Amino acid sequence: MLKVEVHAKDCIGAEVDVLMVGVFDGKVGSSATEKALNKALEGSLEQAVNDEKFKGKAGQSLVMHTQGKLGAKRVALLGLGSEKSINTEGWLAAGGAAARLGNKVGAQKALLCLPKLGDDAIQVAKVLTRGAYLGVYKFDEYLSENDNEESLTSLGICGEDAKKRKKSFEKAVTRAELTAAGVCLARDLVNLPGNDLRPTDFAQRANEVAKACQLKIKVFEAEELQKKNMNLLLGVGQGSENKSRLVHLRYEPKGAKKAKPVVFVGKGITFDSGGLSLKPPGAMYGMKMDMGGAASVLGLMSVVGKIKPRFPVHGVLALAENMPSGEAIRPGDVITGAAGKSVEINNTDAEGRLVLADALNYALSLEPKRIVDLATLTGACMVALGGYTVGLFSNNDKVAEDILAGSKKAGEDFWRMPLTGALKEQLKSDVADLKNTGERFGGAITAGLFLQEFVEETPWAHLDIAGPAFTSKDSGAYRKGGTGVAVATLLEMLGC
Ligand code: BES
Ligand code: MN
Ligand code: ZN
Repeated sequence: MLKVEVHAKDCIGAEVDVLMVGVFDGKVGSSATEKALNKALEGSLEQAVNDEKFKGKAGQSLVMHTQGKLGAKRVALLGLGSEKSINTEGWLAAGGAAARLGNKVGAQKALLCLPKLGDDAIQVAKVLTRGAYLGVYKFDEYLSENDNEESLTSLGICGEDAKKRKKSFEKAVTRAELTAAGVCLARDLVNLPGNDLRPTDFAQRANEVAKACQLKIKVFEAEELQKKNMNLLLGVGQGSENKSRLVHLRYEPKGAKKAKPVVFVGKGITFDSGGLSLKPPGAMYGMKMDMGGAASVLGLMSVVGKIKPRFPVHGVLALAENMPSGEAIRPGDVITGAAGKSVEINNTDAEGRLVLADALNYALSLEPKRIVDLATLTGACMVALGGYTVGLFSNNDKVAEDILAGSKKAGEDFWRMPLTGALKEQLKSDVADLKNTGERFGGAITAGLFLQEFVEETPWAHLDIAGPAFTSKDSGAYRKGGTGVAVATLLEMLGC
C-alpha cells in the first residue's frame, strides 16, 4: 500500500530507489536540483536528456541508473508539460504518473522533487497527492492471479516549497489521502458486479462505513418504506428478488444540532436492466455502474465522518434493482410516491428519477440547507456533454456557483445546464400528475425538471454523472472502471 509523505529535507543525497524530478516543458536542466544531480552523475544526466530527446512534455519520463554515484538507485525526470498551462487536471495526472513510474521500476521508496511553485504550492501538493493515490488504484478482487506490480510503499514529496512550508504541506497531504480513500471506496462499489452488490449488500457496506467513520445510520426495509409511502422506490424494485432499501447516513457535529444540514442524495440502482422497457444487450452491459451516485455519496460521507466539519451533513441512498418479471411495474402504471404526486410510468427504464423522487422527498423532511443529488441519470446527458463532464442542474445560482468553484479546485469537469421551463409540458400526463419521461431531445433537462418537482423551494442541485461515473480507459489519475466522480468536488464545496 502506498503512502505519500512530505520530505522536507534535501533530496540530492536521499537513499531511495528512485529520485524523480518534475520538469516543466522546455525547462530541462535549469533547476538547481537537476544541475546537482547531473554533476554527481558526471554529466550523464544531461547526455541522457539529449539522447532521449527528453523535453518535459506531460507524460514523458526518463529513468537512469546511478550506479552507486548517488544515494538514490535511480534518477528519473518526469515531464509536467507547459508551466503556463498546467492546471489541476495536469497535477492530478502528474501525481498518478509519478506513483506508477515508481511501481514500474520496482521501487519501494521514491521521492518526487517539485519545481518552485510559490503561492500554488499547497494546492499542488494536495492535488498531486490525490493523483498519486488514485493513479495506482486497482480493482483486483476477482482476479485469481495478481501481477504484483505495486512495489511502491512510500512516495515523498520534496522541493523548496515543501521545506519552507512543511506543516501546510503535511496538512494538504493528509486531506488528500482522506479524499482519495473516499474516492476509492466509491470506485470499488461501482466496480463490484451486480450479483455481489444488491441493495441489501450496498446497505450492509454502508453499515460498515458508518461504523468505521462514526456516522449514524438508519436502513429502511420494505415494511418501513411502505409505511412512508415510498411507492416509487419500492415500485422500481418490485420486479426484482432483491428488494429496495433507503439508507440515511448522518454526520452531526457535537453541540451544533440546530444548524440545517447539507443533504446529499444518491441514485443507487445496483443493476439497471431497463425493467419491462428492457434495454438492448449493448446498452445493458455496464449497468452495474448505475449506483455510481450512491457510491459517490457514501464515499463522500466516509470522508466527512473523518474530517468532522462544524456543520451537519447527511447522505441518503436510494437503492433498488431494476428488473423485468411478472411482478415488475408496467409501462402505463400509475404510482403515487411519498410526496403524494401521482406518476404515470411511461418508460420503466427511466427509473432513476422515480427512486430519487422518494429520496428527495425524504431529504426535505430533514429540513436541509441545501440538497445535492448525484445520479447516473440519462444517456442524453452523455450525448450533450460527452463522457468526462458532469451535467449540473440547479434552481439556485449560489449552490451552482459553489459546486462549480469546488470542481475547479478539485480538477473535475462540471458544466451547468438549464432547467428549461418550456420543456415542462412534456411531463404532463393524461391520467396522472406527472409522467416520467418526455421526448428524446432535451432528455437530460426533462429528467432534471422531473426531479425539481420533488424539492419544493429548497436550494438544490442535480448532478447527472451518467458519463463521468465510469471510464473505459486509463488516463491520468483515472483507472478503467468506476471513477468516484464528484467526491473531491463536493468536499471542496463543503470547504473540507
Ligand atoms: N441508467 C440509465 C442512464 C445511463 C445510460 C447511465 C448510460 C449511464 C450510461 C437510466 O436509467 C436510463 O436508462 N435512462 C434512459 C432514460 C430514457 C428512458 C428517458 C436513457 O437515458 O435512455
Ligand atoms: Mn434506466
Ligand atoms: Zn438507470
